[in-house]
Amino acid sequence: MEKKRGSFTGSIGFVLAAAGSAVGLGNIWRFPYLAARDGGGLFLLVYFVLAITFGFTLLTTEVALGRKTKRSPLTAYGVLNKKWKWLGVVASIVPFIIMPYYCVIGGWVLKYFIVFLTGNGVKAAENDFFTGFITSQYEPIILMFIFLAACAVIIFMGVDSGIEKSSKIIMPVLLVLVVAIAAFSLTIKNTATDGTVTTGIDGLKVYLVPSLKGIGVKEFMLVVMDAVGQLFFSLSIAMGILIAYGSYVPDDANLVKSINQIEIFDTAVAFLAGVMIIPGVIVFMGAEGMGSGPSLMFVSLPKVFAAMGKAGNVVGTFFFAMVLFAAVTSGISVLEAVVAGLIDGFKMSRTKATVAETITALVLGVIVCLGYNKLYFELPLPNGAKAQVLDIMDYISNNILMPIVAIATCVLVGWILKPDFVIKEAEKNGEKMGRKRMFSVMIKYVAPVILVVLFVMSVGIV
Ligand code: PHE
Repeated sequence: MEKKRGSFTGSIGFVLAAAGSAVGLGNIWRFPYLAARDGGGLFLLVYFVLAITFGFTLLTTEVALGRKTKRSPLTAYGVLNKKWKWLGVVASIVPFIIMPYYCVIGGWVLKYFIVFLTGNGVKAAENDFFTGFITSQYEPIILMFIFLAACAVIIFMGVDSGIEKSSKIIMPVLLVLVVAIAAFSLTIKNTATDGTVTTGIDGLKVYLVPSLKGIGVKEFMLVVMDAVGQLFFSLSIAMGILIAYGSYVPDDANLVKSINQIEIFDTAVAFLAGVMIIPGVIVFMGAEGMGSGPSLMFVSLPKVFAAMGKAGNVVGTFFFAMVLFAAVTSGISVLEAVVAGLIDGFKMSRTKATVAETITALVLGVIVCLGYNKLYFELPLPNGAKAQVLDIMDYISNNILMPIVAIATCVLVGWILKPDFVIKEAEKNGEKMGRKRMFSVMIKYVAPVILVVLFVMSVGIV
């Protein structure tokens, strides 16, 4: 018997779920770092312009393809055009690879949340705390499992009672936390040993004021490519996620409006993440403290919280609670992208699909954890990094597969289905899609070119 396909109850549910996917670790640990490195306000400006052009185009495309086909990423492309079935397979491999290591990082966040909640934040600021934790044998595995199980329970409950309901609770709380922490970070100040006082507002200036120091044409192009890469990752594009979520959007929902809201939500949180993090790091550690990724979140920030004295444990607890919320809503979206494919493509029940993917992610996740312990090695990647299991999976999905999926999607929509295919879906209830001309030019010419450059750069060819 063909079961009824899951559906969001309305556009608010969809917007919050998609924003939940979009707002994740990328917003928090990568956006502020890039902004601090790439000329502050200059990066912000470039990012905002790209968000309403390039980001808007890819976001609209994937959501519209999902709603039009009402299929999972695995089967949607084949429905659109038989010869493009392979693209569904590649698009589904991306979330399959991401899920295990995303849960491992989710487990790390959970660890820090617990450490701060129990009043031990100062310990987390010690030099070898992070390395000691991830190289330990059992703890990272147990915490990874708890994170994965939480995501699995939500996905098991289905689209409206699981994904939509949890997003409706988590996302408003997340937003309140982000705004509160950002406001707090502007009030901090520190007096150095030589008597100079640095305030949160000084840090904010580093973030907001465009700096053109040392920026020539080549440097500017690098800033643009940093912004493109970040945007692409941040909107959860080319991971199959938006096709899956788009397929659950009711036909009478206003797609145009929803897409704008998702973009505003994601960009606002990325911007506020900078306001949360940059002033703290500048005030207590100086510009050198602005690392990226795990080193920013798990090494630098605990030092910043420790420097705040008593308040540090409280701010740290709220901060890691916020990150945990961001990570869970992204984690469930990755899991759903895989589960939806198993349901559609292999005719599994939701229960069976969830159990199958959870067990697989668990096994792979254990291997990722052991990559810092029993299975430790250092593999040089083409981009110069020395990689462990987690980095290799991240490299394959983000640097290789995602650009391929995005480029192929542009070719399929721009040249074979034609841009009107997407525009018609977006306007199907009489809505007016703005930026239509721009959309067509973008999907046919500009986006593929930008993506090819990004791909060539990210695999280290140039
Ligand atoms: N959009 C997420 C972010 O910015 C990225 C992401 C989503 C990664 C879902 C994995 C899974 O952090």
